[in-house]
Amino acid sequence: MNIAVIGTGYVGLVSGVCFSELGNRVICVDNNQDKVEMLNAGEVPIYEPGLQELMVANKRAGKLSFTSDIAEAIRESDIIFIAVGTPSLPNGEANLGFVEQVAIEIGTHLESYKIVVTKSTVPVGTNDRVRELIQSISTQPFDVASVPEFLREGSAVKDTLNPDRIVIGTDSERAIQALKKLHRPLTENLIVTDIRSAEMIKYASNAFLATKISFINEISNICEKVGADVTRVAEGMGYDKRIGSSFLKAGIGYGGSCFPKDTQALIQIAGQVDYDFRLLKSVVQVNQDQRFNVIRKLEEIFGTLSGRTIAIWGLAFKPDTDDVRDAPAIDIIRYLTEAGAIVKAYDPIATTNFRREVDAASIVWEETPLHAAKGADALCVLTEWKEFSQMNLMELASMMNEAIMIDGRNVYNKEQIKASGFQYYSVGRPGLNHAEGKAAAII
Ligand code: UDX
Repeated sequence: MNIAVIGTGYVGLVSGVCFSELGNRVICVDNNQDKVEMLNAGEVPIYEPGLQELMVANKRAGKLSFTSDIAEAIRESDIIFIAVGTPSLPNGEANLGFVEQVAIEIGTHLESYKIVVTKSTVPVGTNDRVRELIQSISTQPFDVASVPEFLREGSAVKDTLNPDRIVIGTDSERAIQALKKLHRPLTENLIVTDIRSAEMIKYASNAFLATKISFINEISNICEKVGADVTRVAEGMGYDKRIGSSFLKAGIGYGGSCFPKDTQALIQIAGQVDYDFRLLKSVVQVNQDQRFNVIRKLEEIFGTLSGRTIAIWGLAFKPDTDDVRDAPAIDIIRYLTEAGAIVKAYDPIATTNFRREVDAASIVWEETPLHAAKGADALCVLTEWKEFSQMNLMELASMMNEAIMIDGRNVYNKEQIKASGFQYYSVGRPGLNHAEGKAAAII
């Protein structure tokens, strides 16, 4: 099949590459000429395991190309995917400016029947708006469909090539047949539904996963007070098939480009039809508050943070990505610098991106985890990068001014901590809090 993918952000680029891998001819479009040149030179602007190799191979095989010429891409394709960004407006609503602009471009360049598919996460009703916009410009035949994307950063290629399900929302039999044919090599789980339900499935799924995280984080806070271990609680819950074991890892809350944005957007969508989505509002609030558990623990230990040197390990919102969008580390480091602390920060790959979000004279950017920890009064682990779990904790403790660790991601186990000499605080595991000389605070 001939496919155009408009927008080469995370979703667009990964989808385009994967569709070409399936044997289709794909043209990816972006209005940023520099980015197009970069992609044509075989460079990938995001860190995503496996993506570059697949991209280069399919480009070489003549199945994948990049252009800024949207008219040509529309002309050459049977199916057009809209995969442009829908960033949050200040009130949490999704900004549909880019989607609407693309719809107008499609209408302007339509010369024969096309299927226009929205992959961007868009509020319920947006595909109808896309249809209206195209119809207001063109009399050519076309159908619209919503095929939401569920990929995770860091495993985007794997998720796209092995999805749990593909949701196809459309009112056109012709579009159903074409989209089934396109996606069938990926999975048998093809869910065909109406457009509005498909749009809602994406928001509801992300909101539900965010709810699981905030739920287990609240349980972890109670575990700290009653002396239970949240990892064991989650394990015990997860064996119940109705609950499932995934997304029950307590920590410092979710970040990234999807959950924070999509939960806010769904609250707005509900509000617009006079529905107060109380549960989801709480999920968001709990998530925000959970980040500050790290700060509360530091303040309980030190009183004031002014003049203290705090090492930070991990800036990305999760491991295996250089993405720092809405990362808990942003709020935590901002608070620390405002409170007068000196921050020594390390991340294997996300430092450059992070510095665009937060940079201050009181932050020292370190090249290795040990350099960051050297001479610090406390170490906070904010992202569970694999290299952190493999550190020699005894050596680490000996380099610090005070061997205090706030492990925001439960990276270490009891044995590692016992031998290390660290005064250790993790999330929802008070039994592991191990104090050398001092009493371990339970917060
Ligand atoms: C998410 C969805 O998983 C994906 O389906 C959607 O398309 C986009 O949003 P992503 O943001 O890449 O993907 O990351 P994910 O692995 O889902 O993690 C999101 C956040 O939740 C991270 O900050 C992670 O640290 C946190 N998380 C996840 C937890 O705190 N606990 C968990 O148990 C799982």
